[in-house]
Amino acid sequence: MGKVAVTAAVVCGATVCAAAALIVRHRMQSSGKWAKAMAILDDFEDKCATPIGKLRQVADAMTVEMHAGLASEGGSKLKMLISYVDNLPTGDEDGLFYALDLGGTNFRVLRVLLGGKDKHVIKQEFDEVSIPPHLMVGNSAGLFDFIAEALKKFVATEGEGLHPFAGRQRELGFTFSFPVKQSSIASGSLIKWTKGFSIEDAVGEDVVGELTKAMERVGVDLRVAALVNDTIGTLAGGRYNNPDVVAAVILGTGTNAAYVERAQAIPKWHGVLPKSGEMVINMEWGNFRSSHLPLTEYDHELDLESLNPGEQIFEKIISGMYLGDIVRRVLLKMAEEAEFFGDTVPPKLRIPFILRTPDMSAMHQDTSSDLKVVGSKLKDILEIPNTSLKTRKIIVKLCDIVAVRGARLSAAGILGILKKLGRDVTREGDSEKQKSVVALDGGLFEHYTKFSKSMESTLKELLGEEVSEHIVIEQSNDGSGIGAALLAASHSQYLEEC
Ligand code: GLC
Repeated sequence: MGKVAVTAAVVCGATVCAAAALIVRHRMQSSGKWAKAMAILDDFEDKCATPIGKLRQVADAMTVEMHAGLASEGGSKLKMLISYVDNLPTGDEDGLFYALDLGGTNFRVLRVLLGGKDKHVIKQEFDEVSIPPHLMVGNSAGLFDFIAEALKKFVATEGEGLHPFAGRQRELGFTFSFPVKQSSIASGSLIKWTKGFSIEDAVGEDVVGELTKAMERVGVDLRVAALVNDTIGTLAGGRYNNPDVVAAVILGTGTNAAYVERAQAIPKWHGVLPKSGEMVINMEWGNFRSSHLPLTEYDHELDLESLNPGEQIFEKIISGMYLGDIVRRVLLKMAEEAEFFGDTVPPKLRIPFILRTPDMSAMHQDTSSDLKVVGSKLKDILEIPNTSLKTRKIIVKLCDIVAVRGARLSAAGILGILKKLGRDVTREGDSEKQKSVVALDGGLFEHYTKFSKSMESTLKELLGEEVSEHIVIEQSNDGSGIGAALLAASHSQYLEEC
């Protein structure tokens, strides 16, 4: 071999070696980064773990807090608010009633024609309006005037056969899904905002008074006959269809529960004397907190940066407003510390709440072999193009961790209520058919099937086979709106005349 040929062979060999070394280094680096990303994910998964023992501790803590919240004002993070609903719908309600359902980024106005025992709901109509974001953090008059205008428009569309009796004022059930300290069935003051609302001048105010003033300003005549939380509306709507309903849970933008308490269990300081042997309690369980909750650094950060730091901790790890943002936060850490999406951090990933829970749910429930939905959500929402299947699979796993933790904790919460009611065990003499029904409503439960399935199977796991047969989770679509109309009917000013 000539000198030139030898030199060329050596140079070539060196180039190949260098290239190979580069590839190896690149592979090592990227496998190192991948390992780092996996370590972040594994650590998160460990911290989110909800083994059955932990869930039992959460359920026990929930029961203890329920007792404490009832026993004294401020005795617990659970407010255990008296709803003044001591007579749940019977099915006899009749007439035309309106409802206003306010509690998220949309509100609904409804009109329901009730036909008494035999006919039940004869007809219902509704309209849905989304609240411009600036009104959620503006002033009270701005929000209530906007709602009153929508009510006015809706009343104007009353069709054939859907008018109140001549000479009677229209009556409204107002579902206001925030913590309210009630002073009667149709009055109460707002304790604080939750779920991204922050209108300072409304806190402490009588919400019925605020709405009534706004209706006067815009010129629509409706009398608020009942003010209820969405949990109370759902319980009332559920009871109307099924006498075995004992509790209601909302899993939507926010989360909360209400249940039927024995009147004797309500201490005197509440200042109410239930007319019947029962009183419905709005737990405001979104504000539950316990050392047993599996909280991670991402949850703490989300809380600190929220509009209500230190509050609604249970809600912040369970409900629809927050789940997508927890996923985003973990992805951001994986992007920053392990270059999960390449050497730059996708700027959109830094925007709070950009990844909504419905998008998370769509990714989590993607059944296509190449996880097409995950790919397109990443591209459309976070502007991350061309993700590998491996990356997409990790994202599905992350969604699973976050959703399953929320679902299992909500099951533990329900167990806590059943314990308080003494319905977590079968007692001797319990009739075979005696069921305890929990009415469930909210978009998270309704649309995020993996979440609802996990919640229901966890509850079964917690209760055991025998008791599970007596406990029924009943989905109640829009029970809260109808429930409010029903409660307006049972608190109508014209009741005596009937
Ligand atoms: C929030 C509210 C609560 C409501 C729940 C579900 O937790 O504080 O009143 O019931 O969301 O909408």
